[in-house]
Amino acid sequence: MHEGHIEQLPLICPRCRSPEVQSPLELQQIFKRDGGFILEGFLVCSFQGCQMAYPILAGVPIIVKDVEAWWNAEQSKLSSVACGTPQIRVYFDALSQSEPNRHAEKALLSTYMESHYATHERAPQGFGGFADSGVFWERVVDIAQPDTRHKHALDLGCSVGRCTFELARFSELAVGIDLNFDAVSAAAGMQRTGTVSYERRKRGRCFETVQMPYSPPQNALFLVGDALDPPFLAESFDLVAGLNLIDNVSLPLVLIGQMDALLRDGGTLVLSSPYEWRADIAERAEWLENDALDAATMVRNILEGGLFPQMGLKYEILSELLDVPWVLRHHDRYWSLFLVHLIKARKRELAS
Ligand SMILES: C[S@@+](CC[C@H](N)C(=O)[O-])C[C@H]1O[C@@H](n2cnc3c(N)ncnc32)[C@H](O)[C@@H]1O
Repeated sequence: MHEGHIEQLPLICPRCRSPEVQSPLELQQIFKRDGGFILEGFLVCSFQGCQMAYPILAGVPIIVKDVEAWWNAEQSKLSSVACGTPQIRVYFDALSQSEPNRHAEKALLSTYMESHYATHERAPQGFGGFADSGVFWERVVDIAQPDTRHKHALDLGCSVGRCTFELARFSELAVGIDLNFDAVSAAAGMQRTGTVSYERRKRGRCFETVQMPYSPPQNALFLVGDALDPPFLAESFDLVAGLNLIDNVSLPLVLIGQMDALLRDGGTLVLSSPYEWRADIAERAEWLENDALDAATMVRNILEGGLFPQMGLKYEILSELLDVPWVLRHHDRYWSLFLVHLIKARKRELAS
């Protein structure tokens, strides 16, 4: 994170937050920096009764209610182990290769780095032009582009950050949050180094190193945070995006409610999803579709306030695409093609 970003946009302590108390975090300790980037340190809750400390690791603030639970769940999945000496690093890298979880995380990182930053020259014939992941990002940029520059934009479930960087091009500050530390730190690392660098999975456990120059905008802030409990004040953003996230959270309807709460009146909501619901992520009762209504229709109706009117949503649908190709490359012989629903809606002003 850049030192100045915390002054631009208050980050709110998720631990002591209540309707009455919304305490901003303060940068209290800096252990390691690289120019204007803070690499290691602590953000501390300014409320005397709380004073919860949130670590900054590899340039990424970790702002979740229970940092210990997050760490216990995530640390075994981190694909890189931060160790001081090359000998120890080689030792741990070798251990990581034999660890199933770490292999899965490394493969996942490869898939998303490819999806966000690669151009697939060797795409399978059968996918035709679909296999260029650029098609998806072009549609996202087309739909998200505002008439006037945004102050603050938010990308929930940002993964390795492509959408956040795109939003930053037309915002004063764009924020990307995700629970996956590997992904968020890859995004923050690209911003700091001006290089896209990752291990691209060829097959099985065989990876090749990819490196290319990249000039991402500097007005982007990446942090680990929960989209269902985001560390921001209500109505902080002019645009809130959630790309391919709604079917990845346990409470899809709560996600829509949180996106709405974070948007100012008149703000823009951008949502995309293939609605690939999974019972191990969200109970079936939470899925936003049923025998009578497909998910695209249901999400549109929810935003317009026809379904679940108690949520108080009153969005105007500005544009909508029903089947935008979204390609994920897992390895040379394994690709997935989704057709996602991409929707842009405006939060109506209270008076209208
Ligand atoms: C299918 S990926 C989509 C990534 C990216 N938006 C894109 O379209 O390429 C879903 C992402 O959401 C993240 N995620 C899942 N649940 C989350 C939550 N509750 N809060 C923040 N991120 C979450 C995952 O870690 C993952 O990076």
